[in-house]
Amino acid sequence: MKTILLTGGAGFLGSHACLNLLEAGYGIYIVDSLENSSFESISRVCRFLKEKNNFFQNKIKFFKADIRNIEKLKIIFEHALSNDNKIHAVIHFAGLKAVSESEENPIKYWEYNVLGSINLFKVMEEYGCKNIVFSSSAAVYGQNQKCPIEEVSSLSPSNVYGKTKKTVEEILTDLHFRKKWGVAILRYFNPVGAHHSGIIGENPISNKNNLFPIICEVAKNNNKKLLIYGSDWPTRDGTCLRDYIHIEDIIEGHKNALNLLLNSGKNLIKVNLGTGKGTSVLELITTFEKVNDIKIEYEFSGRRLGDCAALFADNRLSSSLINWRPRKTLEDVCKDGWKWVLENPYGYIKNLEELDLSNYCEI
Ligand code: UD1
Repeated sequence: MKTILLTGGAGFLGSHACLNLLEAGYGIYIVDSLENSSFESISRVCRFLKEKNNFFQNKIKFFKADIRNIEKLKIIFEHALSNDNKIHAVIHFAGLKAVSESEENPIKYWEYNVLGSINLFKVMEEYGCKNIVFSSSAAVYGQNQKCPIEEVSSLSPSNVYGKTKKTVEEILTDLHFRKKWGVAILRYFNPVGAHHSGIIGENPISNKNNLFPIICEVAKNNNKKLLIYGSDWPTRDGTCLRDYIHIEDIIEGHKNALNLLLNSGKNLIKVNLGTGKGTSVLELITTFEKVNDIKIEYEFSGRRLGDCAALFADNRLSSSLINWRPRKTLEDVCKDGWKWVLENPYGYIKNLEELDLSNYCEI
């Protein structure tokens, strides 16, 4: 059994990766500060697998720690070793992702996203772990790119968040060429939806700015209205085009990249994870309304600072390099995302004391 460390493993992406990789037979270590996430996500994943009689006991260990603390990271790698169980690869999700906050507080973003990553890489090197899958973002491309965006496009991020992601990509590229690390850089477009079971999803408190969670919020509170930022963009219906990709598809991409790194030597992979299709704000609303039989009230307002007309992926490279193709539709996104919100209107609400803490460890 190979053991994978997920940084930020209790978050939206991390918890879905945890479920997917446990099902695939991996052993999982998680490090998460729980600053923007909840241990309840992991506790639910464990319960779900137990109910399915899926053998997973002793295959998961959770550490509450911040990757900015290098000594704590060492404890985790040491723990694995003392259990005859080295960490074979890391999937590095941990980081901050609110664009506007990154503009207001650049130091915080450089510290969490870059310094935190450097700490992680130092400890990986010390313990001989040389495989990493990194959560990057379409934000590295910046605005005004020709769509669909290819991986070879110039990287000119227009906000601090995107710059921190680009910097970590550069560090990892150096580690590949100078130190022979296996590196997969995955550039996400707009990850949305939730696990089809409805047991895990995006915690509403942690995301108040992105369109899909706001649509769900409006659907939940029929006295609220969605503000559409601009009706005069140069697109087919005047609203912006984005690439909304189901969370389960995104995580499949991680599994494929991970398998490739573990099975075929020291690669450097840089790929987009997107559907390859631009969907307008109005199209997303209409699909949500149709699939869930619910009305979304909206009105148009002015353009949001920093937005651009269109941002969607060229995903041919991910298909050829990691054999990945999105399988879920926009309808699935809307159905699964709404199911999660409907069944968990307040997201994760349990306190630690109410949860099964047998796999939990605070260091
Ligand atoms: C935003 C970030 C991007 C980040 C991504 C994470 C900006 C400028 N970009 O991307 O760097 O990687 O989130 O998922 O913040 N919209 C509305 N009304 C709303 C909210 C959004 O009309 O209340 C529109 C926006 O104008 C945009 C589309 O919905 O056209 C999608 O917005 P959003 O979900 O915030 O994603 P991005 O802007 O693509």
